Amino acid sequence: MRDSKIIAASRQSISSAARLIGDGKLVAFPTETVYGLGADATNDKAVAEIFAAKERPSFNPLIVHFADSSSAEKAARFNARARELAAAFWPGALSMVLERLEGCAISLLVSAGLDTVALRVPNHPVALALLAEAPCPIAAPSANRSGAVSPTTAVHVEEALGSAVAAIVDGGPCRVGIESTVVDLSGESPLLLRPGGITEEEIEAVIGPLAKNIESKGGVKSPGMLERHYAPATPLRINAAQAREGEARLSFGPDAPHDALNLSPTGDLKEAAANLFAMIRQLDDPKYNAIAVMEIPNRGLGRAINDRLTRAAAKCDNGEM
Ligand code: TXA
Ligand code: MG
Repeated sequence: MRDSKIIAASRQSISSAARLIGDGKLVAFPTETVYGLGADATNDKAVAEIFAAKERPSFNPLIVHFADSSSAEKAARFNARARELAAAFWPGALSMVLERLEGCAISLLVSAGLDTVALRVPNHPVALALLAEAPCPIAAPSANRSGAVSPTTAVHVEEALGSAVAAIVDGGPCRVGIESTVVDLSGESPLLLRPGGITEEEIEAVIGPLAKNIESKGGVKSPGMLERHYAPATPLRINAAQAREGEARLSFGPDAPHDALNLSPTGDLKEAAANLFAMIRQLDDPKYNAIAVMEIPNRGLGRAINDRLTRAAAKCDNGEM
């Protein structure tokens, strides 16, 4: 058996992880949303390694993580809305797409040919300590193979990418459990590209209405929105009232049968988001014909949960991420 790459988070292990990143290696690390597969965002070769490890289509751009907003401002053109959102939600589960600053140090490969870059300051003590020590901003997609379920524990990362990374810093299970909300602020009106850990309502309370038109004239605006994504090997059936013979049931709320896994027995959408990916993995077993997921209310974080479930259930085999 291969040795484990998992190292418990400590001052020492975070320092060595920061050195590995500086040396161009891949290091997986915890954030409040999901685990990231990190590399030096200014190093083309290291960024290319991310795409190779994930088997990710190179047209899908990456989020760059920073220790604070002032470091992020060195990479992209912040407008008034971006500053307001950074003040309200950073550190936190919001990624902002902004115009790249000319001559900025971020690898062009990170942007995958777009003239924009996605930026985030994560709200996790281990991620922030790593970002403070690393000599560079860190490009990090979710640490799963393309198309598969995002990881919310270090063990999930090891199972999928253990052979590709130099280290996996273990900071325990992710608190939010669903990826960041992606908002494009590079155009005239702000555009929601991906629902996530910060709700539309919270964002709209700060900057007003968000457009939700995912398609753009120039082709795929946010390639992460390709239809099939977050998919387990076992087919997923959504808005299921009952589990059929041979199906596993994934429930939500107090009225569900007690023999099934429940995303949140009290009906709390935050708890459901935090449990979503780990429970889908638990039920992703060839002994089941399908995973039948009960209806989740489509409000607040429920929208991000339903977005992931719809994509995981989509019946098409192109657009693998
Ligand atoms: O919570 C998260 O956001 C996690 C943690 C690790 O920070 N990261 C994550 O990254 O989910 P990833 O690569 O799995 O998803 C990034 C999303 C994709 O949908 C991608 O298409 C979009 O952000 N994106 C990145 N850069 C973009 C850009 N310049 N323009 C439009 N969309 C962009
Ligand atoms: Mg992902």
